[in-house]
Parts: sequence; structure tokens; C-alpha cells
Amino acid sequence: MLQQAAAIGKYPWRILRPLCAAGTFCSESIPIIALGLRVEIYSGASGNQMRQKCRFIDMLRAVCPGSFDPLHNGHVEVIARASSLFDEVIVAVSKNPSKKPRFSLEERMDMARETMTLLRGITVEPMGEGLLAEFCRDHGAGVIVKGLRSAVDYNYEVPMAAMNRQLTGVETVFLSADSHYTHLSSTLLKEVSGLGGDISDYVPRAVYKRLKDTR
Ligand code: PNS
Repeated sequence: MLQQAAAIGKYPWRILRPLCAAGTFCSESIPIIALGLRVEIYSGASGNQMRQKCRFIDMLRAVCPGSFDPLHNGHVEVIARASSLFDEVIVAVSKNPSKKPRFSLEERMDMARETMTLLRGITVEPMGEGLLAEFCRDHGAGVIVKGLRSAVDYNYEVPMAAMNRQLTGVETVFLSADSHYTHLSSTLLKEVSGLGGDISDYVPRAVYKRLKDTR
């Protein structure tokens, strides 16, 4: 019996699609091996069964992860640009208790939801406390989108991108931050707001109000 190579949950559809479409994927495991991919081997599945199994990830869905404590306009700009590149974007809000967040997970999600209501194809979900790579796989997302403000961000993010790809095959796409926002961080904005500075240019309305209320 011919062995069928499938990488459901390990390799995204954009890699499998050309092989499936050409039919080679379903009758030969050689092209997969030639590509050097680590695959799970299934026996006895027909080409149609394979295509059906793969269909659920046949959409370019991306995840924008973060603590968002709180969300600022640099985040929003990257998320909006991601939504113009992908069919769906999930804003995954990390619990991240190690960072002792100023806002609870629910508050951070509420601020993100209120801000995203007018943007098409964007949902906001809790990431939980597990691996981001597994969150992406469980939500059928093949891409993580991150904004880069500087080489410091780059050096921090690249090892995580490699690890996430090795864990489940999820790719990371970096978008360079808009020059208006390269100096922004949630930490800096909390400090400036706490000391009475005006941060209205840098955060969405839903966040501005809450930051002012919790000064
Ligand atoms: O806004 P932040 O705090 O910089 O976001 C960091 C976040 C949530 C993206 C990062 O901590 C993360 O990916 N957490 C999930 C846990 C995980 O997958 N760790 C292994 C990374 S290779």
C-alpha cells in the first residue's frame, strides 16, 4: 500500500496545496521528503480524503499575539495592516501573569474588541497560558504577525519565530512599525499617563478613557 504523507496540523496548507493540487502529494511521498519536511505518515487515505482533511486550513488566517497591557496605536496600526494582508486576523491576548499586568485579561480584551469593532475580519480571543504555536494550530492559523520597532525587537523575535516554526510549522511575518509609533510601548504610555502626560495621540479611545480612570 502506498504511504500517504500528510502534515495536518504540522504544515500549513500553503505548503501542501501545490503538492495536493498536482496529485503528486497523494500518490508519492517523495516530493515531501525532497522538500526536507518533517511529516506525519498516514496510510491508506485517498487523495480526496486528504484534500478534505486539508481544507479546514485553506484560508490565510493570521494571529497577532501580545499582552496588550494596554493596546496602543502602534499595535492597532500593525493589526490593521495584517487584516489587509490576510483573510482573518485573530488578536490573541496573552494572560502573561509573569508581567503583572495593569489591566485584567477581560479589560484588555474589552479594550481590543471596542477598538476593533470597525475593522473587518478581526476577532479578539484569549491566548490562554499555553504555547502560541499550539494556539495557532488549534485556530487554523498558519501565520503569526509581529510588528518590529527596532533591531532590539528583531533580535528578540527571531529566535521565537524559529522556535514556533519548528514546533508546529507556523510562520512569522514581521511588519516594520510605522515611524510615528516606533517609540511607543505599553510600559512607556502607562508611565506617561500615570504622571499626567497627554497620551491621547497614542492610544485608542477605549484605552485612553480607562488609563485616565485608573491614574
Ligand atoms: O506583548 P508581549 O508581552 O511582548 O507578548 C509576548 C507574547 C505573548 C507574544 C509571548 O510571550 C508569547 O508568545 N507567549 C506565549 C508562550 C510561548 O509560546 N512561548 C514560547 C515562544 S517561542
